[in-house]
Amino acid sequence: MSRSLRPESAPLSRVDEDALSLPAWIYRDAEFFEAEQRAVFRPSWQLVCHLNDIPRPGDYHALEFLGESLVVVRGEDGKVRGFHNVCRHRASRLLDGTSGNCGARISCPYHRWTYALDGRLVAVPHLKDFPGLDMQTHGLAPLNHEVFMGFVFVRLESGLPGVAEMMAPYVDELAAYRMEELVPQGRVTLRPRAVNWKNVADNYSDGLHINIAHPGLTRLFGKGYGIEARPWVDKMWGGLLDVPSSNWSERLYQRFLPRVEHLPPERQRLWIYFKLWPNVAFDIYPDQIDFMQFLPVSPTETLIREIAYVHPDSRREMRAARYLNWRINRQVNLEDKALIERVQAGMASSSYSVGPLSENEVCLRSFGRRMRSLIPQSRLHQAPVAGWSR
Ligand code: FES
Ligand SMILES: [Fe+2]
Repeated sequence: MSRSLRPESAPLSRVDEDALSLPAWIYRDAEFFEAEQRAVFRPSWQLVCHLNDIPRPGDYHALEFLGESLVVVRGEDGKVRGFHNVCRHRASRLLDGTSGNCGARISCPYHRWTYALDGRLVAVPHLKDFPGLDMQTHGLAPLNHEVFMGFVFVRLESGLPGVAEMMAPYVDELAAYRMEELVPQGRVTLRPRAVNWKNVADNYSDGLHINIAHPGLTRLFGKGYGIEARPWVDKMWGGLLDVPSSNWSERLYQRFLPRVEHLPPERQRLWIYFKLWPNVAFDIYPDQIDFMQFLPVSPTETLIREIAYVHPDSRREMRAARYLNWRINRQVNLEDKALIERVQAGMASSSYSVGPLSENEVCLRSFGRRMRSLIPQSRLHQAPVAGWSR
């Protein structure tokens, strides 16, 4: 494709735009990164944990997101609520770590302001020295939250449809997986990647590279890797072949993966991937469900936050299948890490601005459309003059 197709910064018609990738500068530009936090991330739904991660009153899970600490807590009434993890007195961080149990109260380590698990401010030492302090209006700052199939999502600002509404095209399909009954397997992991978050997200929804760059997935699925885009959700999938793989982890996975009672026959050997706008992914296997988030850290740094969930199942074949799944996907992750680092490096080149997208790259096209509608500068092939976002 000729780079002289059109002038570098000329606006494009809708049809032409669809056939082009987003421009490289938005994968490394500090001002774009800030604009993205406002337009893309603050209104987005972010998964914190599953209800079964916080079964008892006082159990909490925290998420570090855009420099904010967000926490969900199980109340004494059994309800789960979301709060900013910030004391209303002098802003001290309240709860430590990524998870734990805070007991019957949330108590600030600095001057001991104390909050009930529902966020009400219930005790202030030396209260009489704060004349006129309205305890009612100094409860923890609440976060909007939604529970979708057992998973607890929060957001910093309203604006987007709810999670269930965004996931609506797939709700019937997902119901088969009984996600409300999942329990955590192991801990939350955070894997740093020296790339822009969009490179992780694009790669997740990139169907073209599977048969080129993932020999393991190719041995498992053959050429039958599916991909489709709905307005808020990407879906990719592959069915396990019967032909035994030449790789032992894959071959043993094919052999050991046992029948899963609650799944219909057509889902017993199916791997499905969903990506919810903009950065939340579910890897759905018969043996487990992994949830991933691509957390933006800087224009060229991302944390992949990942948690695995399972249905309690003590069968030896299931334990083996889960271990083998981990081995297979550890290799896939290494392959993807190398790929996205190559792309990030290439995006720093003065020779590259945009590239053509295949008609089958429906997810990258859909992602590009939404980015261009939210941040119109995404249309420009080169970075505009600094200060464009103000
Ligand atoms: S900062 Fe929390 S009690 Fe003072
Ligand atoms: Fe990949």
